[in-house]
Amino acid sequence: MNMKRIIIYSIGLLLLACGSASSEGSQMTNEGAKVSGQSVFNLNCALCHGRDGKLGLNGAKDLTVSALSRDEMIAMVKQGRGAMMPYKDILSAKEVDAVVDYVRMLGKVE
Ligand code: HEC
Repeated sequence: MNMKRIIIYSIGLLLLACGSASSEGSQMTNEGAKVSGQSVFNLNCALCHGRDGKLGLNGAKDLTVSALSRDEMIAMVKQGRGAMMPYKDILSAKEVDAVVDYVRMLGKVE
C-alpha cells in the first residue's frame, strides 16, 4: 500500500520535471524579451563546456578562466572557432547577449 503511494508520487514528480524542461526550451526560442542566459547555455553550450563551464570536451576551453572581454566573447560565439560552430544563425542577438552574460557570471561565482 505504502509502496504504491511512493511510486505514484515519483511518477508525478517525473511529469513535473518534464513539463518544466520543455517550457524552458520554448521560452528560449520564442520569446525574445524573456531570454534566460542559463537555459540558452544549458541547451546549446553545456554539451561541450559543461553546465559549470569547465568541462572542456573536444578541446573546448574552461569558460570560467577565459580572459576574453565581453565583446570578444560575443564575437566568438557568433562566429565560432575551431571545433565550436558559429551561433549567429542559431541564436538571436539577445540570446547571444544573455548567454555571454551568463558565461561571465560562471567565472565570478566560483
Ligand atoms: C561542439 C562543442 C562546443 C559547443 C556546443 C560550444 N562550444 Fe564554445 N568552444 C568550443 C571549443 C572547441 C572552443 C575552443 C576554440 C578554439 O580556441 O580553438 C570553445 C571556445 C569558447 C569560448 C572562448 C574561450 C576562450 O577564452 O578562448 C567561448 C566564450 C565559448 N566557447 C562559449 C560558448 C558558448 C556561449 C556556447 C553556446 C552558445 C558554446 N561555447 C558552445 C566548443 C564548443
